[in-house]
Amino acid sequence: MIEKQIEKYWDERSQGYSTSIQEQMNSPKKEVWKSLIKKYAGEGDKIKAMDVGAGPGFFSILMGELDYGVTTVDVSEDMLKEAKKSMEYAGFQGNFVKGEAHQIDFPDQSVDLIVSRNVVWTLTKPEETYKEWRRLLKPGGKILVFDSNWYLHLSDPELQKQYNYYRRLAIEKGLIDEVTEEQHKRVEEIAKELPLTYRKRPEWDQEVLTQLGFQEIIIEDNINEWIYDEAKQLLYTSIPQFILCASKNEK
Ligand SMILES: C[S@@+](CC[C@H](N)C(=O)[O-])C[C@H]1O[C@@H](n2cnc3c(N)ncnc32)[C@H](O)[C@@H]1O
Repeated sequence: MIEKQIEKYWDERSQGYSTSIQEQMNSPKKEVWKSLIKKYAGEGDKIKAMDVGAGPGFFSILMGELDYGVTTVDVSEDMLKEAKKSMEYAGFQGNFVKGEAHQIDFPDQSVDLIVSRNVVWTLTKPEETYKEWRRLLKPGGKILVFDSNWYLHLSDPELQKQYNYYRRLAIEKGLIDEVTEEQHKRVEEIAKELPLTYRKRPEWDQEVLTQLGFQEIIIEDNINEWIYDEAKQLLYTSIPQFILCASKNEK
């Protein structure tokens, strides 16, 4: 089953991912990410936040530093272990839940903010997931999604050409890839099975969220310059990262 393959893939990536997250923690970009969360969600110890598909917990730590109460969710046991370690190291206790993004064992209307970076593209049930997140949010609560059209190039030859071109340039500029060739191939095979590989985003998200009754949908289309170093900016020229923030209506 594709879900098992996805879980296994992320289990195996947990160590390498954790190392790259440590690098992000020590980079000036950390403050950029924090200011983006603050811009959309505000500050304060009353905010109950959830980091879904948290991986090794980069966003959980940032939200801890912003004084939010944080619940860290991931389907991969190994990623959750890394998240626990890094949260403890950063001095936060945290609350950890192993689970699927579309089925989180948590009460209705209990969360002010759901943050998720580079997760929605990898979901087998993205629409159900947005429905689930709406269930978890308090009235007036928000989702904050950071993501890209990571594998749209698999179904678009022009995008594939651009991706190959910028990848070569980025490697020349000194990009060090933490993903092995075998992992690249495997994740592409997984991506071919995922619904959002074939959808243009964030347009798809906006349409689904509107249908689900989310309001005040704000999108920033391309934040690559803010969040990536020079080599990654080159690598991802044809795969811009977007921000999408949407609110659950008050009633
Ligand atoms: C690309 S990583 C992003 C990690 C983290 N959000 C970050 O940006 O550093 C994707 C994460 O989503 C998790 N994930 C994948 N499918 C999931 C699902 N159905 N439910 C919950 N987590 C999932 C993976 O285990 C992995 O930790």
